[in-house]
Amino acid sequence: MSYNLLKGKRGIIFGALNEQSIAWKVAEKAVEEGATITLSNTPVAVRMGEVSALADKLQCEVIPADATSVEDLENVFKRSMEVLGGPIDFVLHSIGMSPNVRKKRTYDDLDYDMLGKTLDISAVSFHKMIQAAKKLNAIADYGSILALSYVAAQRTFYGYNDMADAKALLESIARSFGYIYGREHNVRVNTISQSPTMTTAGSGVKGMDKLFDFANRMSPLGNASADECADYCIVMFSDLTRKVTMQNLFHDGGFSSVGMSLRAMATYEKGLDEYMDENGNIIYG
Ligand SMILES: NC(=O)c1ccc[n+]([C@@H]2O[C@H](COP(=O)([O-])OP(=O)(O)OC[C@H]3O[C@@H](n4cnc5c(N)ncnc54)[C@H](O)[C@@H]3O)[C@@H](O)[C@H]2O)c1
Repeated sequence: MSYNLLKGKRGIIFGALNEQSIAWKVAEKAVEEGATITLSNTPVAVRMGEVSALADKLQCEVIPADATSVEDLENVFKRSMEVLGGPIDFVLHSIGMSPNVRKKRTYDDLDYDMLGKTLDISAVSFHKMIQAAKKLNAIADYGSILALSYVAAQRTFYGYNDMADAKALLESIARSFGYIYGREHNVRVNTISQSPTMTTAGSGVKGMDKLFDFANRMSPLGNASADECADYCIVMFSDLTRKVTMQNLFHDGGFSSVGMSLRAMATYEKGLDEYMDENGNIIYG
């Protein structure tokens, strides 16, 4: 059902890779709600992935960009303003990747070049995006900028690795830039902290299927889906949230406020055998 919440607004959605992607759902709903948008992803993802199919469906342009490149980001904002015919009202940063996680390096054996890449791709890119937009005066007054985070920014989660540090930095950037952009142009900057979600990035998290199940048992409302996350993003892009800024907004079915639930406790006794090495020591990394 459409509420026309984004009627006449222009937006940029970064990070739609395939139908599972949270950004994919946000793009579909944004158009459904009356917005015109552009899409962006890495040149490789644009070549190899399914984002062109989404662009065809939504009749919008895809502008390839590596989110760690300021030049690429500047191009996305310039081109989007050209194509959409004016300044941008909303931006979604839905980007995350850790080479350490990909290479199965544990948190106590990180490769520091890879850590640099994790932080650059998953967090500093948010700063680069906002700074590039601000210098180009590309965001309309009362615009809304969002990134997607995870509760591992506040609390330690087994296996989330250096992405936890990236998410903590991402949330901090939202606060720091939210102050400046709010004061100068009434632009709001927030992060949404989403439940575990079965996507390409999500599946990369160690033990994702079990984490997903655990979070679902812990959350009174159950895990929030990608579709439900997209609904929340739309509200945050709309004029209904004009005074919400510098926040990390939990969208997790209540998970972040629960210590232990009956359903989670019932799974507790199953043992740790599969997390032990051949000497019987538990692997915590
Ligand atoms: N899936 C989950 O469980 C979950 C939970 C909380 C938060 N999030 C966050 O949601 C966001 C979207 O992830 P998703 O779950 O939809 O997975 P996804 O794999 O569909 O999306 C990740 C996107 O990041 C893009 N990307 C990677 N490197 C890039 C770069 N250098 N430049 C530009 N884009 C790049 C990928 O191409 C991909 O489109 C991420 O920030 C992720 O951390 C995911």
